[in-house]
Amino acid sequence: MPLVIFETPGEPTELRVDTPEGGPLAEVCDRSAAPVPFACRNARCGTCRVDVLEGDDAFFPPEDRELDLLDLFSDDPRKRRLACSAVLCPGSGRVRLRAVGQDG
Ligand code: FES
Repeated sequence: MPLVIFETPGEPTELRVDTPEGGPLAEVCDRSAAPVPFACRNARCGTCRVDVLEGDDAFFPPEDRELDLLDLFSDDPRKRRLACSAVLCPGSGRVRLRAVGQDG
């Protein structure tokens, strides 16, 4: 069951979402009102970039479209993903995320 933890600097609490089945991170964000902004939802704008502070191995590897945009931003896909494109693996794991630009 990946446990997805969303951090927001300055907030005393973090959002924790159990996602036993894995699946698209965007769906996890939507159903939990996670503090991650979206715009295009199609790996084109970079609005939804998140820092992966823990648990990058709980995601399936990025597909070409996501990799291409991360590369444009010079982002390391082990440390940064697109919330509109990243997909969580089913099974155990713990993921800690923070939207880019929310580093306090
Ligand atoms: S919302 Fe535009 S790249 Fe994800």
